[in-house]
Order: sequence, then C-alpha cells, then structure tokens
Amino acid sequence: MFSPRNKKKETVKLKKGAWKKAMRIFKYFKPYKLKFGIGMLILVVGSTLSMLFPALVGKLIDAVNGEPIEFLGYTFYGINSIAAALLVLFTIQAVFAFFRIYLFSDVTERVLMALRKDTYAHLLSLPMDYFTSKRVGDLNSRISNDITQIQETFTIVIAELIRQFLTLSIGIAALTYYSFKLTLIMLGSLPVVILIAIVIGKKVKSFAKDTQSSISDSNVIVEETLTGIQSVKAFANEYFEVNRYTNKVNEVRKIAMRGVYARGFMSSFIIFAIFGAFILVIWQAAKLMQTGEMSMGDLTTFLFYTIFVGASIGGSADLYSRLQKGVGSTEDLLDIFSEKTEEISLNQKPEKLPLFKGEIAFNNVGFHYPSRPEMEVLKDISFSIRTGERLAVVGQSGAGKSTLVSLIMRFFDAQSGTITMDGKSIYDYDLTQLRNEMAIVPQEVILFGGSIQENIAYGKPDASLDEIKTAAQKANALDFIESFPDGFHTLVGERGIQLSGGQRQRIAIARAVLKDPKILILDEATSSLDSESEKLVQDALDQLMQGRTSIVIAHRLSTIRKANQILVMKDGNIVERGTHQELLAIEKGAYKNLNELQVQIG
Ligand SMILES: Nc1ncnc2c1ncn2[C@@H]1O[C@H](COP(=O)(O)OP(=O)(O)OP(=O)(O)O)[C@@H](O)[C@H]1O
Ligand SMILES: [Mg+2]
Repeated sequence: MFSPRNKKKETVKLKKGAWKKAMRIFKYFKPYKLKFGIGMLILVVGSTLSMLFPALVGKLIDAVNGEPIEFLGYTFYGINSIAAALLVLFTIQAVFAFFRIYLFSDVTERVLMALRKDTYAHLLSLPMDYFTSKRVGDLNSRISNDITQIQETFTIVIAELIRQFLTLSIGIAALTYYSFKLTLIMLGSLPVVILIAIVIGKKVKSFAKDTQSSISDSNVIVEETLTGIQSVKAFANEYFEVNRYTNKVNEVRKIAMRGVYARGFMSSFIIFAIFGAFILVIWQAAKLMQTGEMSMGDLTTFLFYTIFVGASIGGSADLYSRLQKGVGSTEDLLDIFSEKTEEISLNQKPEKLPLFKGEIAFNNVGFHYPSRPEMEVLKDISFSIRTGERLAVVGQSGAGKSTLVSLIMRFFDAQSGTITMDGKSIYDYDLTQLRNEMAIVPQEVILFGGSIQENIAYGKPDASLDEIKTAAQKANALDFIESFPDGFHTLVGERGIQLSGGQRQRIAIARAVLKDPKILILDEATSSLDSESEKLVQDALDQLMQGRTSIVIAHRLSTIRKANQILVMKDGNIVERGTHQELLAIEKGAYKNLNELQVQIG
C-alpha cells in the first residue's frame, strides 16, 4: 500500500571504522582531561566503595549476638559501630555522586558547546553545492539529535558502563570469596536466565513495532476512504471499503496476538526462571547454613551481591546498545567535518579589496552542476562588462541565467574557461573579500526573522542608524517603514511574511545600498507588482545601479532598454548579443520574438 513504513531497526548497525572515527571526539576532551580524569577517579573509587555495602550489612546481622566482628583488618564491637560505618559509607557516596555528576556534566557541556559551534561554523562554510544536494533535510537533526545522543553518552552511558563493569567484577570476586560452590550455582543459572529474558524482551519489542506499523497501514485505508468519500459514495462502494478495512484490522489482530504470546511468555519466564534461580541459590545457601558453613550475615551479603551482579548483567546490555547509538551519532556528526569547506574567513572583519573597479569577463566558460555531470548548463560562454556598465541577461526559463550569476558569486566553480575580475582570475581572489564587493537582490526575497533595522543592517553589520535610514530612503522604503507604529523596529515575521512582496524587495535593495558594492546582481522578480510599487521598486533599482557594474536578469522591458549590453540565452548558449536597438534589428531574432511577447502581455 501507500503507507510510509519506517522500519527502524532495533539495534544500531555501525559502519565499519565507526568506533575509530568516533574516537576523534576525544580531541575535544583534551583541554579538560584533568577534570575528566578526576571525575573518572571519583567514579571508580565510589563504585568500588559501594561494593562494601553488602559485606557491611552481612556483618551487621552477624554482630547481633554481640561478638566482635573482623572486617578488612578492622575489628568492630557491636552493631552501632557497623551502622556508623555504613552511614559514613553512604555519606562518602553522596558527596562523590554530586562531584561525579558535576564534573562529567561540566566537561561534557563545554565539549558540546565547542562541538555545536564548530559544526555550525563548518556547516555555514560549506559550498552551495552541499546545500543543494538532498542531505540538507537532516542537517538540523545533526546539530540537535546527534548532540543530545552524544551528551547522554558522555554524561551517563560511559560512567554507568564503568560502574557496571566494576560491580560485576568486584561482585563476582566477593561472591567467590564467600562461597565458591554457591557462586558456581548462581553464575550457572542467573546470567543465563537474564540473557534469555533480554532476548525475549527484544522479540517483544519488535512485535510491538510490527503491530504499530500494521495499525498505521489500517489508518491509511480510513484516510484514503475519507478523503475520497465522494468517489466511494458515487460508486456505492461502501461495502467494498468496509471489507477492505475489515481484512486489514483482522490482520492487525493476528499480528498483535503474536506479540501477546511473546509478552505472556516473557512474564511467566521472568517469574519462574529468575525467581527460580534465586530460590535455587537460597536453597543451597540454607543447606550450607544447616551444616554451619555459612552464617546468616554471610547469606545476606551473598544475596545482596547476587542482586547487584544480576542487575548489572541486565543493565549492561541496554547500556551497550546506548553506547553504540552514541558512537553512531558521534560518527555522523563528525562526518560533517570531512566535507570540504569554501575558503572563507569566519573571524576577521571583512576587508574591502583596494582599488577594485569591477570589470568582469567570461572566457569560454563551461559549467555543469556537480550533481548532474552529464548535463552541460553553460556552454562556452564569453562576454565582458566594463566598470559601471549595465548588462541585461534575458532568455527562456532554464536557459542558465541564474546559474551564470551564481558563478560570478562563486557559489559554484566553472569546470572550463576562465572568469576574471579586473583582469585577474576570480579564483585568485580571497573569497570573502570578493563577495564583499558584490551584492545580490534575489528574485524571491527572504528576510530574517528580526526587525526591519536588523534586516537592512545585514548589508553592513556595523552601520549606524543614520546610514540605515539613508539606505532605506534611497531604496524608496523610508515612507512605508515610518508609517508602521514601530518604525525601524517593526518585526518582519518569519521569512518576512508580515511585509508585502514589494516592501520586502525594497528592504533587500536597502540592504544592497548599505553594502555599497562594486558589483550589483539583480534577479528581477517575475511576479508582477501593482504599477505603483513597481515604479517605486524600479526607481530604487535605477538609483542603486548608478555607477556600479550591474548584471540584471531582466524581465521588465524598462530595465532591459537601459542596458549597455543584452545577452540572449538559450539552452546554456548566448544566441544573440547587443543593445536593444541592435537586437530588434535582427529579423526573426530570439530577442525580437521575446520583446513582441512582452509588449503583447504588457
Ligand atoms: N542546483 C542544481 N543542480 C542541478 N541542476 C540545476 C541546479 N540548479 C539549476 N539546475 C539546472 O540548470 C539549468 C539552468 O537553470 P537556471 O536556474 O540557471 O535557469 P534560469 O535561466 O535562471 O531559469 P528561470 O528563468 O526559470 O529562473 C536548468 O535546467 C536547471 O534544471
Ligand atoms: Mg533563474
């Protein structure tokens, strides 16, 4: 059927080399190795000390008859002294627990902060190509989910695993000390039983998943039927749909029942086998007590150790699978760092290129998008623009116009030919500096969620309010901004939805004015504004283009007519070039054709 089944596997299958790759994260822990080390020490000492508890409780019971008790080379007289020792033990535990949690969390939070920052910085420095490929969807989850997983791993999972390991080894050693025979009986039964319970538990979980997904399959039928209810009724197919649904829910019942057997079996097994194993141990111990080989206190101690060991066998399996998840997440996250970034600078305040004029030349440029190597989008493109000139690019949809300007912005690198600015290859400039000389007013303006002032200031983050106002005025935006009750502090809403299309464009123009670039790139909006805003936007753009090299992907005749040079593009080629008049003179020319269409529509 059409239902999207996400059959997620219960256990995480790690890629080859995942562990080794994930270890790279320890680079981030290095500055805090002392703190982390102290945390580790507290953990180990604390866990070891906690293993004294069963022994001391046993001694407490044996001390009831008033005899002095030997323990670890120390002699206790009476139950009070042992109870006091227990109290001291728990006090130490309490203090240790606090510092253990504090130290591990403090280190982990610092590491996470650095990791979040680095991931984000790296992500923003990746080339456009990365963002146009389909992995963008899970980028956000990298920074949030993966990091949460890593946090859990380093604050809880690793510490718990170490504690369980100590509990197990010290526990078994202690058990052996108390009674070798009993230990053998216990180890021969309990771990086996617990492991079987874990396996059944997994089965139960997977049945529950199957049931869930068959329920969602059945919901799909309901959904389909209800959305298409008109067709169902028109064809009098109610009985057919009810049958279809009945079959499906019957299937749901069968699948659910399979899970029920497993669940029931699991409960019975735990009751019978785990308690059985305990009874076996207690029974054997009672025999030893009968023969005087074991005291009441020793038996208590033995049982406590058995419970400790049993619990840590049960817990370790879950912890291990959480650790695997943590390793998987770490590897996924660190994978981002193996993506090559653009050579942009993140720290320094952007500098302007000295004496840059803004002459652009394309020489035999060929380009295909990295994701589609077999499709040549630009073929042998050559043209040049002198400083301060206006170049218009026209042509049908998909001709390669936007691609052309994205090569100028160096969003992508051309595979053949050369692109120069002021006679020097654009690949020889510092990328950040080069982009600082350019501004783009895109077709579809998307603003950031803040205020109008912040959005305009994006063109020059350190601009003063006066500069921002002047820019707004030049962009014909001052009037509408000041008509809002909050003026420049008006919030624009997510992506700028609280402003009209024309207003958003003028904000984008003000941004470009403020940046005062040498090269201006305009992707004219195809959506038509009303003639009043159209004129306001047009005037603002004309102002902005004054005295700069401008490249306009043009749809409006008014813009095109004023251009010094027009390129007509078709299927990645320049098919005609010249001024408006020159191009109109070409009989049956592509431009003449386009122009006639425009005039008709206009
Ligand atoms: N990121 C991309 N990856 C692969 N192919 C792309 C990508 N972007 C655009 N293309 C393809 O490149 C060709 C040129 O696209 P481009 O966006 O340059 O056209 P355009 O002339 O700007 O069209 P329009 O007037 O509709 O905006 C199209 O065939 C398009 O499918
Ligand atoms: Mg385009």
